Amino acid sequence: MDTIKNTSWLFLLSVLVFCCIMCSKLHLTSAADAISLGDSLTGDQTIISKDGNFELGFFKPGKSQNHYIGIWYKKVSLQTVVWVANRDAPILDPSSWKFTLSGGNGNLVLLNSLSRTPIWSTHLDSNTLNTPEVVLGDDGNLVLRDGSNPSVVIWQSFDYPTDTLLPGAKLGFSKITNQIQQLTSWRSREDPAKGPYNWLLGPNRTSQLVIYWNKSEEIWKSGEWNEKSKTFSFLPEMRLNYEFKFNVISNINESYFSYSLNDKSMIARFVMDISGQIKEFTWLESKHEWIALYVQPKRLCDVYSICGPFGNCNQDTWKCECLPGFVPRSLTDWNLQDSTGGCTRKTLLQCENKDGFLSITASKLPDMPRFPPIYGAKDCKSACESSCGCIAYAFVNNGCRYWGEDLINFNQFKPSGGPAILNLKLAATDIPSTPSISSSPTPASTAQGKSYLRSSRQSS
Ligand SMILES: *[C@@H]1O[C@H](CO)[C@@H](O)[C@H](O)[C@H]1NC(C)=O
Ligand SMILES: *[C@@H]1O[C@H](CO)[C@@H](O)[C@H](O)[C@H]1NC(C)=O
Ligand SMILES: *[C@@H]1O[C@H](CO)[C@@H](O)[C@H](O)[C@H]1NC(C)=O
Repeated sequence: MDTIKNTSWLFLLSVLVFCCIMCSKLHLTSAADAISLGDSLTGDQTIISKDGNFELGFFKPGKSQNHYIGIWYKKVSLQTVVWVANRDAPILDPSSWKFTLSGGNGNLVLLNSLSRTPIWSTHLDSNTLNTPEVVLGDDGNLVLRDGSNPSVVIWQSFDYPTDTLLPGAKLGFSKITNQIQQLTSWRSREDPAKGPYNWLLGPNRTSQLVIYWNKSEEIWKSGEWNEKSKTFSFLPEMRLNYEFKFNVISNINESYFSYSLNDKSMIARFVMDISGQIKEFTWLESKHEWIALYVQPKRLCDVYSICGPFGNCNQDTWKCECLPGFVPRSLTDWNLQDSTGGCTRKTLLQCENKDGFLSITASKLPDMPRFPPIYGAKDCKSACESSCGCIAYAFVNNGCRYWGEDLINFNQFKPSGGPAILNLKLAATDIPSTPSISSSPTPASTAQGKSYLRSSRQSS
């Protein structure tokens, strides 16, 4: 009798303990989309948005040894990062760092356990919220808001995009603070540091989308937004798209471009790709891959300086190559499809009239030539020959041009010939007997003439 009594007590006790454990577990999962004041993430800890669309934590891109705080798709099995906090300040060991909502000034910061100085911060002057909390939304937006009044948001990751524009996020600028929301490409597939390409709305407060290279060179533009047709003037094909609703809003406070999805279950993103192209990707679960429905500029060789200094975008193969006598500056980057670092000489110039010239036919000469007042082909050559600062010359339309720095945007070379001849100065040993351009590893994926239409899908 006694033993039966004891066992039932034990049973009751274990049920109670089990319940308590379950309760605390449930409590934890329900709170796991937020970081409260004083809370932090470290090592492999993450938070997950309410319906499980997105996850935030430390990640490591590909084979890189560097770690970053980022947001990625929880429901996409291929690591796809949509936002990076410390993109220019990687860390090595996430277990000695914490991503925390600091009690001191209410900023969200990335801190080393040994140092009090964050390497990344939301940089708010003051945080006067009653109950500050950081919440990861199912739209992929990380917001710093007042827990007691969630509509009061004082910082959000959507205002500081990395290279990805998610549905509902804005690409634009504030007319009050002049703050810009723009996308900046990654440096390479495994390095989220700021690359050379920016995608933004409205330089000079116009309502057109543009891509800049090196923050200064405009390499693509969409034309002005037409509110009636809901398209940009150079992109009439936007009208044929039934999956996205595009919009440009301009009011007294701000101007921005954004889009939404007609099918809410679709997973899609716009990216300022390392190829210098804007790409719209849609996740195709059945194929387990991202499909690019939309690419601009359509052709890789139209992207400004895509092959970097002394690189050449071959219009026949749609690949980056190095000019003869040159090799990729960083083979690692080229293998990661980042060719914008360009090429470097196999052999340094000697510069005592010991170098030679290689003639290359081109349909377009490199950018930024200089125009010395020389009007004869022979004089043009000997001027370049005798000047160490001259690395190439061309004699075009009875005028001499020479180049003293990197040759960039030389992207029109066709082995079959072209209207102009560039004479490239090379060390004598690097001059091949028969001129040929050596093919180097393939850079960013080629995108020829892809359009909005579903019929012309392209894998990423
Ligand atoms: C910007 O606007 C100013 C004044 O309207 C104009 O002079 C300038 O050319 C514009 N710049 C560009 C890049 O459109
Ligand atoms: C890139 O931009 C910087 C700063 O604006 C400028 O000094 C430099 O000349 C640019 N580089 C090229 C190759 O245009
Ligand atoms: C502009 O901002 C002010 C202040 O935040 C707000 O009251 C107003 O509704 C905004 N106007 C528009 C058109 O968004």
